[in-house]
Amino acid sequence: MCALLRPLQIGPYVLDNNIALAPMAGVSDFPWRDVCRTWGAGYAVGEMLHSRGDLMGTDKSTFRTVQMYEKAPIAIQLLGNNPQDMARAAQAQVAAGAHIIDINMGCPAKKVCAVAAGSALLDNEPLVAAICQAVVQAVPEAVVTLKMRTGALRDHKNAVAIARIAANSGVQLLSVHGRTREDKFLGEAEYDTIAEVVHAVSIPVLANGDITCPEKAQQVLKHTQAAGIMIGRGANGRPWLFSQIAHYLATNQQLPEPDLKTIHQVIHKHVQAMHQFYGDFIGVRMARKHLVWYAPYLRMSLVQRQQLMAAETPEHQLSVLAQLSV
Ligand SMILES: Cc1cc2nc3c(=O)[nH]c(=O)nc-3n(C[C@H](O)[C@H](O)[C@H](O)COP(=O)(O)O)c2cc1C
Repeated sequence: MCALLRPLQIGPYVLDNNIALAPMAGVSDFPWRDVCRTWGAGYAVGEMLHSRGDLMGTDKSTFRTVQMYEKAPIAIQLLGNNPQDMARAAQAQVAAGAHIIDINMGCPAKKVCAVAAGSALLDNEPLVAAICQAVVQAVPEAVVTLKMRTGALRDHKNAVAIARIAANSGVQLLSVHGRTREDKFLGEAEYDTIAEVVHAVSIPVLANGDITCPEKAQQVLKHTQAAGIMIGRGANGRPWLFSQIAHYLATNQQLPEPDLKTIHQVIHKHVQAMHQFYGDFIGVRMARKHLVWYAPYLRMSLVQRQQLMAAETPEHQLSVLAQLSV
């Protein structure tokens, strides 16, 4: 492997490559992680799971907890602002089979920040330390990682301080999204602060934010010197982006997209996996989101698109898909 494309080591786990799928609530569920891994993602983190015990056991948390058929290492992301809750939730997930616990300090959603969790924690360095230490101590047999932004506020980017706190607490990998909490998803991600974090700590760092093509992946890796990159929205509807990036990093040559027949097979299999994972009712509805992202490859008329989106049963959704010409 070349210098930019290389295996990624997280604690004792050595992953095939350093291109990861980002955790995305409502998107990076087990079926999507599986598709992305098949198409070259070396690592994939599950959607955020609330650490509060009273929220566990809901449909949503059942889908987000450990899936026993997932390829190791299984990485579960926890959200919360109470060190004891986070520690207990981490123990429960490790007991259920998780190998890696990722702490969420990146989510800017209003309903998350309103309870001072996710990226709101970046404002409170003592609490960051307390959460990291509590989780690391609670699960000595597992690896603890942290997903963060560059800070809470644009004019107070404390990513380096947070990264040092995390590393000193025993966190073994950081994923850094190049925006502050204040930025939400506006503007463009910046990579200078990620580069500062990379140079400040000795644990591996994944650079994240707005990586949507092989050239950008190469640019970000060169600029930040990060151990790897993490991709979220850029792979929606085109999981082959992971192998295209890997190929480009290794050869400096573009790998064409798969042919349409292969793409249709990927879509069909992915949708079937969603039906199986979520059951008929939720599966059909969750699949619609991905079908919208896949739409550019489906060459649908307006009527066919309406039929696909209106399908209410797995059989109907799959039969409309099967009728679309390649
Ligand atoms: C729909 C959506 C859901 C997300 N959910 C999570 C989440 O559960 N946990 C988390 O740490 N980040 C979450 N994020 C942030 C992403 O992991 C990532 O940091 C962000 O999208 C920037 O990367 P990208 O430009 O490659 O998408 C979410 C982002 C989106 C768009």
